[in-house]
Amino acid sequence: MTDKYHAIKGVKDILPGEIEKWQFMERTAGEVFELYGFSEIRIPIFEKTAVFTRSIGETTDIVEKEMYTFPDRGGDSLTLRPEGTASVVRAYVEHNLYNPPSVVKLYYMGPMFRCERPQAGRYRQFYQIGAEVFGTENPEIDAEVIGMLMRYFEKLGLTELELQINSLGCDECRPKFKEALLQFLKQKKSLLCEDCQRRYERNPLRIFDCKSANCHEATKDAPTIETHRCENCKRHFDSTLSYLDKLDIQYTKKPKLVRGLDYYTKTAFEIVSKGLGSQNAIAGGGRYDKLVEEFGGPPTPAFGFAIGVDRTAPLIQQSAISNQQSVPLIFIATLGERADLKAFELINVLRQNGIRVERDYEKGSLKSQMKKANKSGARYTIVIGDNELDKDTVILRDMSSAKQDEIDMERIVEILVPLQLDMDNIVRR
Ligand code: HAM
Repeated sequence: MTDKYHAIKGVKDILPGEIEKWQFMERTAGEVFELYGFSEIRIPIFEKTAVFTRSIGETTDIVEKEMYTFPDRGGDSLTLRPEGTASVVRAYVEHNLYNPPSVVKLYYMGPMFRCERPQAGRYRQFYQIGAEVFGTENPEIDAEVIGMLMRYFEKLGLTELELQINSLGCDECRPKFKEALLQFLKQKKSLLCEDCQRRYERNPLRIFDCKSANCHEATKDAPTIETHRCENCKRHFDSTLSYLDKLDIQYTKKPKLVRGLDYYTKTAFEIVSKGLGSQNAIAGGGRYDKLVEEFGGPPTPAFGFAIGVDRTAPLIQQSAISNQQSVPLIFIATLGERADLKAFELINVLRQNGIRVERDYEKGSLKSQMKKANKSGARYTIVIGDNELDKDTVILRDMSSAKQDEIDMERIVEILVPLQLDMDNIVRR
């Protein structure tokens, strides 16, 4: 194929073979999050640009240089969503989900778009699974939601993860910290990279996130939010950590952890995978107690996170999903034309009864059909030949033990339905 038709840079197809891990992630998210009281919300792929600029922050990298923004035909400025939180907050306010007052828990999944420099683990269209809780300031929720996220990763079979956590303070203490940081960096400004010189003027906390060795060196002894937190933020952070202790969740305090989005207050965290290279954050989130108000809603504290699916899926072992749902329970092998016709009808009946069936459409020799049966991963093979047709039976062969039984055609559904349910249960567990 000529390059002309290749997918664009930073955008990719997710093919069978890989998609099973994605489906496993999505399915497991629904199961785990719903257990914790979350309901799914579907948000639009694009919004008015203002939905993102104010909330994410005018001076963040995302808004300054990474958004896919375009005028629509009416002249409005629209943007492909670079993340989900802003849209969920917009929907929460637009549909008065704060009425009647209660805690509202929502989760979502789907593609996000950021025009970043593509590299391993960094794409221009990438996928997130996110969750947001509205209506409580209680640090129990910070710990509970982080706990849910860790439980989710455990269900995916992921170990070797590190929870890094910080509290970014609030409107009361953060300005004082910012002042102290600017004061400290004043003498070192010329040592900073070009980007950070700009950040110094517009968004100095982001300097902590710069990958340049010089900037790292310049901020080595910089003050951190830790010594500037107000009493309220300190109490909230300590409680969050003690609830995490109660859940037996290990964490690393990272006083220099800042996030790429400006809406955070108090708790901010990231989950990093020790097995990944430089793009090692597989999830991030935190508290954002002011955002609902900024969208015109009533004061409503909130907390949430988003998982990067593109980075997480490759970490999942095939064995964790070896009982994947696409594996057939039955492979049907036939001998002769009469058997083919019978198989055609039988497959339809089995599928109507919820049984996953495959067959060899090329109708090779019995040997080659059995080879394909093996390859398909089917638990059983049904063999139909003239002999069986005459007796109105089939041979049911257990592929792992090679044990064979002859069973009456009319009892097939009755026998196979429990086997299929059993297989599905193993998948769900
Ligand atoms: P974020 O840290 O920007 O947070 O993104 C969350 C996760 O999405 C990252 O940890 C990473 O795994 C993945 N991710 C981000 N950019 C890319 C990319 N270009 N390619 C591949 N994966 C990427 C948020 O988006 C917030 N909305 C999270 C949140 C929800 N905070 C509160 N509620």
